Amino acid sequence: MNIVIIGKGQVGSILTEALTDHNVTVWQQNLIDLTADELAKLNPDVVINAAGKTDLLWCETHALQAFHSNVEAPVAVYRAVRSLNDKTFFIHFSSGCIWDGPYRTDGKPFGPYDPPTPAAFYSWTKAACDSMLLAEDPNRVAILRPRQVFSPITSPRNTLMKLVRYEKLIDTPNSMTSAETIVKMVRYLLTATGDRAGVWNVYDKGVTTPFRVGQLLAEAKLRGEPTAFTKAELDAFHKPKRVDTVLYDERFEKTIKPEPVEDMLRAAIAGLAA
Ligand SMILES: NC(=O)c1ccc[n+]([C@@H]2O[C@H](COP(=O)([O-])OP(=O)(O)OC[C@H]3O[C@@H](n4cnc5c(N)ncnc54)[C@H](OP(=O)(O)O)[C@@H]3O)[C@@H](O)[C@H]2O)c1
Repeated sequence: MNIVIIGKGQVGSILTEALTDHNVTVWQQNLIDLTADELAKLNPDVVINAAGKTDLLWCETHALQAFHSNVEAPVAVYRAVRSLNDKTFFIHFSSGCIWDGPYRTDGKPFGPYDPPTPAAFYSWTKAACDSMLLAEDPNRVAILRPRQVFSPITSPRNTLMKLVRYEKLIDTPNSMTSAETIVKMVRYLLTATGDRAGVWNVYDKGVTTPFRVGQLLAEAKLRGEPTAFTKAELDAFHKPKRVDTVLYDERFEKTIKPEPVEDMLRAAIAGLAA
């Protein structure tokens, strides 16, 4: 299978390393330069967009550039993909951060088609792009919404590396997504013949909290015991506001059968500690 992966950040690198059994091209240049002509040369079966501006504070202060990378360019690439032929499939990485929870107002987790409630410019760009891609054509795109991606890799984008650093951690429920679950989701989409388009919330099963992850990291001697503090205390100084989000997706759980989040966290932390 010919696959084009756009973006060589955390998620792009995870996928590039995992999909070596396919003919993968990593698009190293600006997303917007992946035109229909360039795509025609690569003849992809699947194009995966793992590029985007992900620094929340930077997105607040560089709104136009954030909009370009997170909305304008992905939509342009999807148009180019669709103009190529009637089969090439587009996988786009969105984010569970489009919802400001941790739960909906009725106390339930967020489902894939719940209306977004973005709390930061970054989240607005992710939600806007998703809507525009679906309006363009909902049948040739899978929109993946992971949340707080983690892995055993010592990259600053790894959520575990962030939780190693903060002394105080909130004890608020959240979904998290391991690298393995992302790869399992993408592998399913590469081979599925039927049900693959639309929005997928992508997460490890169950719920954890930043404080609980801090405890697991402390058990592995990667940090000291964390101190818990409240979301209100965090919100008083954290700008833009941190969002907490718990995801649910019946189709995802039935199809991908994600592993329990605490098991996946323990495995990734053991890898980090080794
Ligand atoms: N990691 C998470 O916890 C998480 C959670 C939910 C969703 N996601 C989504 O997953 C996707 C990938 O995330 P990630 O963790 O891999 O982020 P990342 O490590 O920040 O990587 C994103 C990469 O995209 C590049 N990029 C930005 N604008 C571009 C453009 N116009 N053309 C080409 N490349 C561009 C960035 O380059 P520069 O650094 O030079 O800008 C960076 O190398 C993003 O869409 C993100 O919203 C991630």
